Formats: sequence, C-alpha cells, structure tokens
Amino acid sequence: MIRASVRDALSRIQSAFPRKEDLETLLSLSDPDETSYLHATACAVRNTYCQERIAVRALIEISSVCKNSCNYCGLNRYNREASRYTMSNNEVLQSVKLAASQGFKTVVLQSGENGRTTESIAQLIAQIKQKFPIAVSLSLGEHPYEDYLAWKRAGADRYLLRIESTDEDFYRSLHTDRSLSTRLECLAHLRRLGYQAGSGIMVGVPGQSISTIARDIQFFSENQFAMIGIGPFIPHPQTPLAKCPAGDLLLTLNTIAVTRIVTKYPWMPATTALGSLNRDYRMEGLMAGANVIMPNFTPQRYKSQYAIYPNKQSRAETPESLEHLGKSANLAIDYGRCDSLLPEWNTCTPIA
Ligand code: 5AD
Repeated sequence: MIRASVRDALSRIQSAFPRKEDLETLLSLSDPDETSYLHATACAVRNTYCQERIAVRALIEISSVCKNSCNYCGLNRYNREASRYTMSNNEVLQSVKLAASQGFKTVVLQSGENGRTTESIAQLIAQIKQKFPIAVSLSLGEHPYEDYLAWKRAGADRYLLRIESTDEDFYRSLHTDRSLSTRLECLAHLRRLGYQAGSGIMVGVPGQSISTIARDIQFFSENQFAMIGIGPFIPHPQTPLAKCPAGDLLLTLNTIAVTRIVTKYPWMPATTALGSLNRDYRMEGLMAGANVIMPNFTPQRYKSQYAIYPNKQSRAETPESLEHLGKSANLAIDYGRCDSLLPEWNTCTPIA
C-alpha cells in the first residue's frame, strides 16, 4: 500500500522546485512497498532521461598525500598511521593504458590535496590526452582558479568536487579551517572554465539530519550537476569520528532515489562506499536510480594505501562481472565517454 500523501509528494517533486517537506517525507520512507515504489520511480526517471545504461569509469587513485584534516577521512593529515604514496606519471599512464585497452573511455584521477604539483598534473593530463582517446575526470579537491585553468587547458574534461554539506555550520564542523564558501567558489570556477562539474554528499555523517539532506538535494536541483555521487559514511578508526555508526543503507538509497527524481539527468555512481558496507550494495544503488560503476585501476600495491575509510572494496571488475551487474539491473553497459546529459551542456561556452 502506498499512502496518498507519498504519491502526492512524489508527483510534486517531479513537476516543480522540490519543497523541503516533500523531500523529508520521501527520504524518511521505510515501508517496503513505499521504498520499492520510490526506487522504481527513480529508475523510470533515469531510464527516460539517461537511457537504460550504466556508464563505466576507470578510477585511478594517484596519491594518498593530503594537507587537509577532514574529520571523516582516513587520509587526513593527522593520521600518522596512514601510508602515503604518490604515483609517478609513468605509473599513472600504465594504469590508463590498461583501462583504455579494456575499452574504457573515461579515467577519473583522484587524490588527496597537495599530493603533486600543478604543473606535473597538467603534464600528466596532456600526456593522457595525447596517447589515448579517453575523457579525463579530475577529483583532486579544492585548488585556486589558476590550477583548474591549467588542467582544463591541458585537456581535462570533468571535475568531481562533492559539496559534502550545504549547511555552513555542519560543513565547518567536519572540515577544520575550511569554509563552505570556498567550496562553492571552486565549483563556480570549474563551471566557468567549462568543466562538466560533479558534486555529491555522504549520507549518515554524524550531525547530519534528514533536513540537511533535503536542503542538499534542493542545492543539487538549483545547480544542475553533470554528475552526483552519493555514498554512505563509513567510520575510519584513525579519525575523530571513529566511534560513530556507518551511514544507514536505506537512507542512502532513498537519497540516491530522491536526488535522481529531482535532478533527472546526472550520471550517478553506485559508489565504492556502497560496495564496502557489510556486503556489496552497489546493485541496490543501481536499483535506486544510479547509473555509473567505477572499477578501480589503481595498481594493486597502492590500493590498500588509499584508505579514506576501512575495508574499501577496490574492485577491478571484469567485462563479465560488469555484464552481470548490468543484466541484473536491466541496464546495458555503455563503454562510451558518457558526457554530461544536461540539456544546456552543448550550448555552454567555457571561459578559458
Ligand atoms: N566514508 C565514506 N565516504 C568518505 N569520503 C571520505 N571519507 C569517507 C568516509 N569515511 C568521501 C567524501 C569525498 C569522497 C572522495 O569520499 O565524500 O568527497
């Protein structure tokens, strides 16, 4: 049985700017009939706006060095037990080569902040673009406009920078010495430079509430991102949040579903964090409206060192395992670039 109030909230968020109360109602659903209905609606929206497919992106974690002290992250600079590595450009190129040989058309280069110089990253991007017909997404955190400009000029296509939270006080409580305004400024720079911009949040970070998540979803609705990543918080033992519980699975899936219904077009990963709880829940993520899988191409010897949270499942995947995921979710695997699907994307003029 689906309550009329739930049907009404769902239809309202699809046709107008989503009201906070409606988002909160839908995020809080727990009755199996109602959550199934919510997730099925999200899949229908995804299939209409993004087609029935999963985009695949090869993830390479290029450095675990970080100057930041985010309360939730195992790579924070106060974690003396974290092992730190920085891949050489040649090592990264080898990983890109492997991904390209398997048919991948996107690599995501991710790292902590300050692992490498601006110039060496620009060189790396240029080398990748010269050697391989592959889109480059960056996920390297907050940087000055000039860095983003240099990397765009070198050929980078996309940039992922999660907002983490739109609540200023909550944001500050998670990120010592950092402010929400800087993050918003970074996202504005990335857009102005013509990057396909991605954002997102964790679900279940201590201090977060349904109301904060609802506000974050309104932010996604106002700001139109090409990509939105949503995954559960997982406590890391060497952080101040070590003793806190992990994010709730159902709330994470509801957040993915509601975000999909409201924003329609973004590429949304079934995140590594969803695959790293007590079992792999990425399939449930796909069944709640996600449409990206990011197999891990970080060399084996570095994988375990990129420990943003414990038991991170850095699956490489095979063509067969991807096909299997796709079949079970009723989606085709798309090895193409899968650029932004936002209606305005093709008409936007980058300032460089
Ligand atoms: N649990 C889950 N996700 C995390 N991230 C960082 N630390 C954790 C954690 N402990 C997420 C952040 C970041 C992304 C790269 O990983 O949202 O933006």
